[in-house]
Parts: sequence; C-alpha cells; structure tokens
Amino acid sequence: METKVKVGVIGCGNISGAYFRGCKAYELLDVVACADLLMERAEAKAEEFGIEKACSVEELLGDPEIQIVVNLTVPKVHAEVNLRAIEAGKHVHCEKPFAIERAEGRKVLEAAREKGVLVGGAPDTFLGGGIQTCRKLLDDGWIGEPIAAVAFMAGHGPESWHPAPDFFYQKGGGPMFDMGPYYLTALINLLGPVKRVTGSTRISFPERVITNEARYGERIPVEIPTHISGVVDFDGGPVATLMMSFDVWSHSLPRIEVYGSEGSLSVPDPNCFDGPVRVRRAGDDSWSEVPLTHSPEVSRGIGVADMAYALIYGRPHRASGALAYHVLDVMQSFEEASTTGRHLEIRSGCSRPAPLPMGLLPGTLDTA
Ligand SMILES: NC(=O)c1ccc[n+]([C@@H]2O[C@H](COP(=O)([O-])OP(=O)(O)OC[C@H]3O[C@@H](n4cnc5c(N)ncnc54)[C@H](O)[C@@H]3O)[C@@H](O)[C@H]2O)c1
Repeated sequence: METKVKVGVIGCGNISGAYFRGCKAYELLDVVACADLLMERAEAKAEEFGIEKACSVEELLGDPEIQIVVNLTVPKVHAEVNLRAIEAGKHVHCEKPFAIERAEGRKVLEAAREKGVLVGGAPDTFLGGGIQTCRKLLDDGWIGEPIAAVAFMAGHGPESWHPAPDFFYQKGGGPMFDMGPYYLTALINLLGPVKRVTGSTRISFPERVITNEARYGERIPVEIPTHISGVVDFDGGPVATLMMSFDVWSHSLPRIEVYGSEGSLSVPDPNCFDGPVRVRRAGDDSWSEVPLTHSPEVSRGIGVADMAYALIYGRPHRASGALAYHVLDVMQSFEEASTTGRHLEIRSGCSRPAPLPMGLLPGTLDTA
C-alpha cells in the first residue's frame, strides 16, 4: 500500500502498549512519534515498539507529517489535549471518556467542525468479532424486535492492579466513566441512540486502600459515585437495566443480554473483541453458541485504523465524536438523575455506526 496515515501518540502509560501493538496490525497506519509529560515514558515506549521519535507534546503537534493524534492521557486532560491537537490541525482519536463535562466535550466537537478535522474515540471494541456478530444477529432478526437489555459491570476497583489508580476515584473516573463507555457504546451500536435515563448512585467507601505492590497501603479519597444503577430508554423503544460498580466483591451476573420478541441474545464482554455469542430463541431448551461472523483477531487501534480509512476513502468513521459525546451525555445523566430524582431527556443524538462488512482481510477495513 502506497499511502500511509502517520500517527502520533500522546500519553505513554499503561494502555499505550495495546495501541502501539494494535496499530501495527494495519498497513494503512504508521505510528511515527510518541510523547508524554514524562519524557522517559515516551522514550521507553519508542524503544520497546520501534517508534521513530520520542518527543514533547509540542514537538509532536508541530510535526506537519502527523495526521492523526491518539490521545491516551488521563481523563481530566482529554479535552484539553484534544483541543490542542485540533488547533494544530490534527484529526484526533481519544481514549475514553471523551471528556469529563458535557461543555468541554461540545467544545471539542465544535472545534473539530470549525477546523475540518475528524474526532472520535474509544472504545473501539464494538468493532470486534463478538459485538459485530451480535449486531448482525439483531439486524437479521434472529431475536425479533428488541424489547429490553441488561448491562452489568461489577468489581472492586482497579487499586489492586493499576500502578496509578488515583484517577479512577476522581471526576472522570469511577465505574461509569471508566467502564460505562464499553457497555453503553455496545448497547448504542446494537439498539441505537438513547432517549432518556434515570438512576441512583452512591459512594459506598469514602476511601480506597491501594493494594498493588508499588504503592501498597496508600489511601485514595473517593470523589465520585462508585455504584450506579440506571435505567436507559432507547429512541427505538427498548429499555435497558444497567449496573456499574466498583463496590462489589463477587457476583454471578451476565455482562450484556438483549431480550427480543422472539428470543434472547447473550453479548460477550464489551471490553474485549471476541466472543462467545449465544442465542436462545423462543422454544429452544438451551442457549446455542453462534460462530462469529467477523474476526475476533483485532485489538485496540481498529478505531484509529477506521478513522484513517475514513480520511483516505472519504467515508464516515465509526468510533465517532458524535457517538463518544452521546455516551458522555448519557453517563453524566445517571448522577444528575439520582441527585434530582427524575428521568433526564438525552439531548444529544448519534446514528448507529455502520456495521462492518463480513469477509475483511486481516489488517484491512472497508474502503466505501
Ligand atoms: N489501563 C487500562 O487498562 C486502560 C484500558 C482502556 C482504556 N484506558 C484509558 O486510557 C487512558 C489512559 O489510561 P492509562 O491506564 O494508560 O493511564 P496512565 O496513568 O498509566 O497513563 C497516562 C499517561 O498520560 C501522561 N499524561 C498525563 N497528562 C498528560 C498531558 N497533559 N500531556 C502528555 N501526557 C500526559 C501521563 O504521564 C501518563 O504516562 C485513560 O483515559 C483510561 O481510561 C485504560
């Protein structure tokens, strides 16, 4: 392939390795630079993944060759870094959440529109074989008309494994802003945009004790709800029940299930790209695992590649800013609904991203 889209990564922390590896799978992408506030982190990743240049954020943004910036910084600076990149004329793919506040998310969308650049963001797991297979089953009518869904993510927080877990307990963190994007993006991809939400939220533990080796025993104050129960009404009619929690030691809940007029669909982990996908149609006496219609052999970076294809071939990108902002709008609304004791109408909208075609060759995406 002649044309390559040059990519620069800002933020060389925990998740960056997955992107450096994932982007390599696409011939269209060429990751040429990486930057971090801490230069030694950028240098270490450049060395590990053979990236041409480790540099400052300024230098990366000033490089005229770089077309897409992948923003892997911590949530509270996502919007600020996105705005700087847009100002520099770059297209931006940002880790989740798209922003912490709606106003800053809107500012990013507006700036991108004015500058004529694309914005979008994580998660891109809905482009994996698992969720794409679910989408195909739904679109092809295997469970009839979708009626309802459940989405559950429960655990006891990342302080046992993440080397710098502080941001998970600050504004922009918590189970909703950390894990909610996977579940809500998957649901919106499957069921369409959201009309209104309500919910109840709580902080069950005002402090968290770090148990990872590096910072064992340090305490983190908790600033945001760590248990959220919500109800989500979709424009198209289905109603979802959702729980996102960092306050649960163990459970036996499914991740996502969709219930239709003619059967039920068991959706795999929306934080991963693979299966299993299971269906149980009315009258069946057990669940059946469905062979995946799309490849599960993809990883983080497929959303960046999809943006690069959008740029080169002039088609919409799927992990779009509109989708990421709609998810932010919905996430924000649970706590507001809890505080005000009502349903909140969701003002933003987005269209369902186009399904991926079947039969794509490894390392390629659709061109039209
Ligand atoms: N860790 C995971 O498993 C995981 C998985 C999926 C998504 N994410 C998301 O990815 C993002 C990053 O998470 P992480 O776990 O890699 O965090 P991290 O703290 O390990 O890494 C973030 C990096 O960004 C750098 N940084 C912060 N502000 C910056 C700025 N203004 N300019 C340049 N660099 C800056 C930090 O120095 C750090 O190296 C978060 O939004 C998170 O939600 C993380």
